[in-house]
Amino acid sequence: MIDNAQKSIAILGASGYGGVEFLRLAAAHPHLKVTYCAGHTSAGEKLGSLYPHLPAPLADIVLGDMDVEKAAQLADILVFCLPHTAAMDMMVAGYKMGKTVVDFSADFRLKNVEDYESYYQVTHTQPEYVQTAVYGLPELHRDEIHGSRFIAVPGCYPTSVILALAPAVAAGLIATDNIIADSKSGVSGAGRKAALGTHFSELTESFTAYAIAKHRHTPEMDQELGTVMQAGAAPVQVTFVPHLVPQIRGILSTCYATLTKSATVEQIHSIYADFYADEPFVRLLEPGQIPATKHVTGTNRCDIGIAMDQRAGRLIAVSAVDNLIKGLSGAALQCINLACGWDETTALPVVAQWP
Ligand SMILES: NC(=O)c1ccc[n+]([C@@H]2O[C@H](COP(=O)([O-])OP(=O)(O)OC[C@H]3O[C@@H](n4cnc5c(N)ncnc54)[C@H](OP(=O)(O)O)[C@@H]3O)[C@@H](O)[C@H]2O)c1
Repeated sequence: MIDNAQKSIAILGASGYGGVEFLRLAAAHPHLKVTYCAGHTSAGEKLGSLYPHLPAPLADIVLGDMDVEKAAQLADILVFCLPHTAAMDMMVAGYKMGKTVVDFSADFRLKNVEDYESYYQVTHTQPEYVQTAVYGLPELHRDEIHGSRFIAVPGCYPTSVILALAPAVAAGLIATDNIIADSKSGVSGAGRKAALGTHFSELTESFTAYAIAKHRHTPEMDQELGTVMQAGAAPVQVTFVPHLVPQIRGILSTCYATLTKSATVEQIHSIYADFYADEPFVRLLEPGQIPATKHVTGTNRCDIGIAMDQRAGRLIAVSAVDNLIKGLSGAALQCINLACGWDETTALPVVAQWP
């Protein structure tokens, strides 16, 4: 029985890595009751047969069809954990039925539909809802997320890069058209489906860059850093180089930017400390300390460390997130907490698994 303080929630795509991790968080949430889980090729299967780590009663959930009307009959909140384009029309259908809809994919993140269509090489079927969607990064859009019913969860790489650089951009400290973001991601970032590039023998004891300066997450970084830049600054341009590394979880982003004015590392640290003073999930490390993916594994935290190359006049900001939590399912839950008016930190882990 659902009381007034509770809301029911459906997870469409609970058979994927993002969906099953979201289920783990939602199942422990005091105000949420999971009432429907759906799969695509795995519809009809028990979650426990796909994911042996799940105990009962989660293991006994039988995945239903990817049916937005059925999900809407059973739930107040619909979370779509699907590849881009797969949930585009269902998001809008659920929204029109009065539900709160949350999208894990990139479909509603980019405000410029032409950028979306060019980077993703697809046609957007719901362009009129792009402006309705709120970009679900509370550190930049908390007020808009409050009470919103249409949330686009940020990409995992963009979360790490935007959080690493937003205070410097907002303070006018760095040249906005000359930023380099070098990111390394664990393999779970590519989802559960099997592929040659994520095959154990192909990936282990090796790593490489990919999609150099043309990755789909690049315009998201430009867009969001652009929302905090000072008037008169050049349009944000991030040269983004991602790498896949042989570990399961975690993203480490090392971001380089040219300083526009002279500043000590202590002064920059104090600007970052002010910017993130009230943020429950950003941990600013002391100058000289450097984040590591292992320190945030299993948490909704983003750890940030800053350093300077004094000789080159360059700021180096390093951030670490767990791609499946702060980079996805935890970010979604943080937004749902805000949208529903609950304590933003409810049911979100902050202490990392160790060792
Ligand atoms: N993994 C990350 O770290 C991460 C981070 C940020 C954002 N994201 C985004 O989150 C979304 C989910 O990613 P994931 O890593 O969870 O992927 P995943 O593990 O591959 O799971 C994909 C899910 O979508 C379903 N699905 C696949 N093709 C479908 C289709 N054509 N129509 C309907 N459903 C379909 C799958 O169902 P079946 O398995 O039953 O076929 C599965 O439930 C993606 O848009 C991804 O870009 C992922």
